[in-house]
Amino acid sequence: MVCVGLPGSGKSTWLARRGLPTISSDAMRQMLADDITNQDIHRQVFHAVRYMVRERLKLGRPVTYVDATHLTPSERKPYLEIGRNDGCRVEALFFDVPVEVCQKRNRKRGRVVPPEVIERMAAKLVKPTRREGFFKVTAVRA
Ligand SMILES: Nc1ncnc2c1ncn2[C@@H]1O[C@H](COP(=O)(O)OP(=O)(O)OP(=O)(O)O)[C@@H](O)[C@H]1O
Ligand SMILES: [Mg+2]
Repeated sequence: MVCVGLPGSGKSTWLARRGLPTISSDAMRQMLADDITNQDIHRQVFHAVRYMVRERLKLGRPVTYVDATHLTPSERKPYLEIGRNDGCRVEALFFDVPVEVCQKRNRKRGRVVPPEVIERMAAKLVKPTRREGFFKVTAVRA
């Protein structure tokens, strides 16, 4: 399950509330660089995330949620490739939350993302579709 959503759209909260098996890019940043906010290790972080997803598949874990923003088809494509290679279904969980709501939630939390960064990311966001290759797309609304 590939999460798609802006910072503040509620991805981590939604997954944690349901106790779902999650690989998170932020947790990976923490594990690799002792810093949840380190944005300079993108390549290593996502390499490790995908490695973990594949290892879980090899161990027969049926479901893995990947918690990261995954705003564009090119960021999502590697998971669709894993799905093709390992013969599993890849679904998208789209946090369809207006950018104003994300901004408001972001202001209220501990780890604040600069508002202009969220604005820039909102402009980049491409909604996930089945045409892109997902078996199913589920929307989570505010
Ligand atoms: N459904 C909701 N209603 C109101 N507030 C929410 C909801 N979901 C999350 N929040 C709040 O919004 C803030 C951001 O949520 P969260 O950290 O889950 O977002 P995120 O999508 O994981 O962001 P990031 O991509 O930066 O990790 C938190 O303070 C959280 O408590
Ligand atoms: Mg999060």
